[in-house]
Amino acid sequence: MPATIISGKEVAARIRKELAGKVEHLRARGVVPGLGVILVGDDPASHSYVRSKEKACRELGLHSVVRRMPADASQAAVLAEVEGFNRDDAIHGILVQLPLPDHIDEREVIRAIHPHKDVDGFHPVNVGNLHIGERCFVPCTPAGVIELLDHAGVELKGLHAVVVGRSNIVGKPVSMLLLARHATVTICHSRTRDLPSVTRTADVLVAAVGKPEMVRGDWVKPGAVVIDVGVNRVGDRLVGDVDFAAVSEVAAAITPVPGGVGPMTITMLIKNAIEAAERTVE
Ligand code: GUN
Repeated sequence: MPATIISGKEVAARIRKELAGKVEHLRARGVVPGLGVILVGDDPASHSYVRSKEKACRELGLHSVVRRMPADASQAAVLAEVEGFNRDDAIHGILVQLPLPDHIDEREVIRAIHPHKDVDGFHPVNVGNLHIGERCFVPCTPAGVIELLDHAGVELKGLHAVVVGRSNIVGKPVSMLLLARHATVTICHSRTRDLPSVTRTADVLVAAVGKPEMVRGDWVKPGAVVIDVGVNRVGDRLVGDVDFAAVSEVAAAITPVPGGVGPMTITMLIKNAIEAAERTVE
C-alpha cells in the first residue's frame, strides 16, 4: 500500500490560523509582533526565502523590517544592523539569513543577536538550553519536523529515529527534539559506514543532507515514517533527499517535496516571533 502523504501545506495552514488569533490578541494589548531580517548578498535562494518570510508576516499581521545589504558589506556593518534590531522595541525577533558571504564571521554575527530575540534558535544560549531541556527558541525546521510527526500521530517514545545529517540548523537540533520525546536517536553523516544498513533500522527516518534523492527504496524499513528535509533543484525540478516514488511504496507515511517540511519552516519562524513578542508582556 502506498504511504500516507504528510502534508506540510495543510498542517502549516492550520497552525497559521491559530497564530492569527494570537496576533489579534497581542494587537488588542497594543503589541504588534515585529520581525527584523538581515539579508546580505545576492543569493537568489536566500532572496526568495526572505520574500516568503515577508509575505507570511504581512498575511499574519506582523510588522517586518528587512535590511538588504550588498555582498561586500563589512562585518562591522552587519553587526551594527544586528545591534540596531537588538535595541529596537518594535522588533521582537531577529533573523540573519544564512549563508553569509565568506568574509563575514557567521558565528560572531549569531552571537551578537540577543538570545531573547533569536527566533532562529542559533545563539549558543538557545542551543545550550535546547540540549538541557530548558525553555528556548527552537530552530524552525526541526520544530516543523516534530509538528509534522505529531500531526501524523507518531508516538515517538521508544521508537528508533535515524537522522541523516548533522548540521547545526537541522540534524543536531532535530535529534535533540526527538530525544526529548524519548525516541532512541542515531545521527548519521557523511562518514557513517554502510549508511543504508543503519537507515533500514529506522522507525522514523529524517533525511537532511542536501543530496538529491539519496535515500532509496531499499534503505527504508517497511512501515517506517519518512521526513524529507531536503530541497534540491535538479534542472527545473525541486526534489528532496528521498527518492519519493520508490520510498512511498515502502514507508507508512512520507512528506513530499515541495509541500512537506518547507511550508512548516516559515510557520515556525512566525510562531517564534509571536512568542518573542508574548514574552515582552508576560
Ligand atoms: N538558511 C537556510 N535555512 C535557514 C534558517 O532556518 N534560518 C536562517 N537564518 N537562514 C537559513
